[in-house]
Amino acid sequence: MGYDRLEIKSILSLLGCPAVLKENDLKDGSPFMEVQLSSETAAKALMQRTVLSKRLYELWGEGSNLLEVKEQIKQLPKDSVEPYTNECSSFRIVVETFNKKLSTSDKIKRIEQLTEPGSVFCGQINLSQPDNSFHLLEFYHFEGTSQPANKPSKVYFGRWVSDGQRDRIRQYHLQNRHFIANTSMDACLSMVMANLAQVKDNDFVLDPFVGSGSLLVASAHYGAYVAGTDIDYLLLHARAKPSRAKQKARSRDESVRSNLKQYGFESKYIDVLVADASRHKMWREGCHFDAIVTDPPYGIRESAAKIVNVKDSEVKSTDECAQRYPQKAQYQLGDIFKDLLNFAAKFLRRGGRLVYWLPIYKPDYHESNIPQHPCLEVESNCEQPLSTTISRRLITMVKTEDYTNNGEQEEPQASIPVDHYECETFRQKYFRAVESEASATKGGGSTREESVDS
Ligand SMILES: C[S@@+](CC[C@H](N)C(=O)[O-])C[C@H]1O[C@@H](n2cnc3c(N)ncnc32)[C@H](O)[C@@H]1O
Repeated sequence: MGYDRLEIKSILSLLGCPAVLKENDLKDGSPFMEVQLSSETAAKALMQRTVLSKRLYELWGEGSNLLEVKEQIKQLPKDSVEPYTNECSSFRIVVETFNKKLSTSDKIKRIEQLTEPGSVFCGQINLSQPDNSFHLLEFYHFEGTSQPANKPSKVYFGRWVSDGQRDRIRQYHLQNRHFIANTSMDACLSMVMANLAQVKDNDFVLDPFVGSGSLLVASAHYGAYVAGTDIDYLLLHARAKPSRAKQKARSRDESVRSNLKQYGFESKYIDVLVADASRHKMWREGCHFDAIVTDPPYGIRESAAKIVNVKDSEVKSTDECAQRYPQKAQYQLGDIFKDLLNFAAKFLRRGGRLVYWLPIYKPDYHESNIPQHPCLEVESNCEQPLSTTISRRLITMVKTEDYTNNGEQEEPQASIPVDHYECETFRQKYFRAVESEASATKGGGSTREESVDS
């Protein structure tokens, strides 16, 4: 299932709106989806959250040509059409085509056909501020490789109900973000993740690998209180190397807090700790998050490290008061994800959600590579290809069972049925793939390193 369907399903389930998402009969890249909703209020509430859906219409007709659509509009019950088409309501019709350009005169011809005498449209045309807006949407298949077909394969006609939240992508764009890191999550994916996590007003959301806090910005947008941890002291204290090309040094106020402040969410900021996410004992028992939304390090552009237990005698310090830097070791990907699931099983409230990215080497991937936990159920698993061999999967899990550890039974533990990275790390697989892609491209061509974020 694509991200757009997943996002819609997740928002509708959060809103408690029963809905049917119809399978698309247009296989080749149709941008349309038919959804049966219980009311216009539900439809508007859905569009108030979605960043992936552009616009929602009440469907008045569909077919393979305009005549079929006109016939369907005629058959609609009068009382459902009349409030929007009567003499007192102004209207406009917008013609939109996909995969083909229509001339203005062709568009006008279609509008004239729809509004000819005897049609349901009785109001005045008003192009700038109509009471109601109707859209004729035509989808053309590509014939062969580049030529669109002469006739549309699908025509829809609908009454405009609401736009989605695509503008938010610009509003939260990383380009204008005060504090960014090398692997800051882009605004659109951050908001999709918050929607899959069903973040809502007054939730408490944690990102254990917080970086520059992009996922916290998106969660705060949906009304949550937010907190995070990151092992990188220098990054959280604005002393890391700048991530912007022309910036010489970070300014002192670059922080997750200042990012939230930038968008007016400072009151939603709980705190960010310099801490190792593998250390679960730092959290008070019974502390429950509504959602954990995170992008763990894959070990490509951000190192994946954890603190190892060192006895005091092994700590190298010049004197007793010297600052102690704990020793770090490589954090294997398999361990990162098992630790993350164990943490979520313990610290999410029941019904709470864990949303995270899992990097994948495609030739070896199998569903058995997805980490499991007896208290968590996989709700969705969606691929984002990054190159021909590398992708990452956006996994959503729901805590379905309480975590119980009464000392009598063994603690429920996360596992990975077949650990993708047991014999070879993601980093090794990744660079092997980059090398073979480069040698396949004549002259050693460009690599795709830049497409992997973490
Ligand atoms: C992919 S980045 C997260 C980026 C973040 N989503 C953002 O928008 O900026 C992963 C982060 O995990 C941090 N990290 C690595 N090992 C860690 C650990 N053991 N505990 C906590 N954070 C860790 C890295 O310092 C890095 O900032």
